[in-house]
Amino acid sequence: MEFTIKSGSPEKQRSACVVVGVFDNRKPSLSAELIDRASNGYVSEIIRRGDMEGKLGSTLLLHNVRGTLADRVLLVGLGKEREFRDKEFRSAVKAAVKLLNETGSYEAVIYLTEEKVKRREVTWRVEHAVVAAMDAVYRFEDLKTQPTEVRRPLRKLTLSVPQRSDLMAGESAAARGLAIAHGMDLAKNLGNLPGNVCTPSYLGLRALDMGKEFPGLKVTVLEMSEIEALGMGSFLAVARGSDEPPRFIVLEYQGGPKRQKPRVLVGKGITFDSGGISLKPGADMDQMKFDMCGAAAVLGAMRAVVELKAGINVVGIVAACENMPSGRATKPGDVVKSMSGQTIEVLNTDAEGRLILADALTYAERFDPEAVVDVATLTGAMVIALGHVACGVFSNNDTLARALLAAGDDAHDRGWQMPVWDDYQEGLNSNFADFANIASRAGGSITAACFLSRFTRKFDWAHLDIAGVAWNEGKEKGATGRPVPMLTTWLLAQEAPAA
Ligand code: BES
Ligand code: MN
Ligand code: ZN
Repeated sequence: MEFTIKSGSPEKQRSACVVVGVFDNRKPSLSAELIDRASNGYVSEIIRRGDMEGKLGSTLLLHNVRGTLADRVLLVGLGKEREFRDKEFRSAVKAAVKLLNETGSYEAVIYLTEEKVKRREVTWRVEHAVVAAMDAVYRFEDLKTQPTEVRRPLRKLTLSVPQRSDLMAGESAAARGLAIAHGMDLAKNLGNLPGNVCTPSYLGLRALDMGKEFPGLKVTVLEMSEIEALGMGSFLAVARGSDEPPRFIVLEYQGGPKRQKPRVLVGKGITFDSGGISLKPGADMDQMKFDMCGAAAVLGAMRAVVELKAGINVVGIVAACENMPSGRATKPGDVVKSMSGQTIEVLNTDAEGRLILADALTYAERFDPEAVVDVATLTGAMVIALGHVACGVFSNNDTLARALLAAGDDAHDRGWQMPVWDDYQEGLNSNFADFANIASRAGGSITAACFLSRFTRKFDWAHLDIAGVAWNEGKEKGATGRPVPMLTTWLLAQEAPAA
């Protein structure tokens, strides 16, 4: 979809459709008011008759409204004016775009971006309208022989801003939103692909494609022999049980000054997590194809940053393999040597994410990073702790944690800080190796983060446990594209202000 920014009155738009809001209870927004005046009270008559109450997300499509130049006017319910916040704004936009996509308009001018949202500027509204619109039209049907046909898809959306002086900032906000949406689309597509398609080598190929599409991006894909040569015994302990060869993917982007230390993103790329010899129960095991959503988010955020030509240095690292049982697979009790030199007793082969991240985090040292953020569907316990709303944010540096939380708030892709206190470390003690890969069930997400912290002593580090937010279950089963918005927003906030 294409997006443009415009400023002007709704009744004067020559467009297939003009979209204006109505608040609950039956209160037209300012732009709906303008349509009402131009049409001699047509909108207020409809409201009076009870056909548009203003309930959040409700829609009513009107044709040939007198006094306006557009073919259609779409009324969208915004809910209670006093409660019109981030979430409400986004769902109103989504409802409007879904309807536009399924009806006749190829193009529309939307005025919801003129409505006040608490704490938010016009640039926020534009950026989020773009992200919400792209989310509303997202479909994953590549694997269906008969994809649902969208007869007249929405091709172009014009976002209205209150003043001409908002146009410039609006344009760049729309570009930001579109880059984030493209990053999310990439992350969703990779996440939704099944394990028999989205293998470690497939992820490597897609990363190489990105390198071809964006010349500013240097992509390196390491294969088995190179991974062995690096001494990644912890990563390879997970990969061993599978017939699919592992891949270690590195993406380097230099948008900032040469001497600026890079931010490094590290993604967990388990393309299928069966649990290995500590095999998972059968119910819902299909969802473990999503166990590479951390990797997908790293690729998505890299894409967004590169598309925007952001003035910052970023490295993306993805450790990709399958976790499978076999005669060659790592067994409970096996002791392996990580790239850091530390030995690990693998008490549970289903705690594999931390094993591959251990070596990927050690590898990150060579970039002399400003900060390292790993992203992983790491623990089921995270879903129990924070549900499907916030991801867990763990860090050895509170300033870094706060920056990520703030980015998440801004991007409506929120995190919540969790402790990584030393008091939790002793659960990892082992009688046979330097430490074990699991502790007791209690505080499982925290002890997992404690395990990772043993590989991040040399830099500022944060860990995002996205187990609860990376995909939806049930009827809407599918990858969400999170936390691409949080990561991208954080990275963009690190850009040095223009001199
Ligand atoms: N990929 C899973 C975590 C997971 C489970 C994410 C369910 C989302 C939904 C991870 O590799 C795993 O299996 N973790 C174990 C750790 C345990 C063995 C200490 C878990 O959470 O049960
Ligand atoms: Mn597992
Ligand atoms: Zn896993």
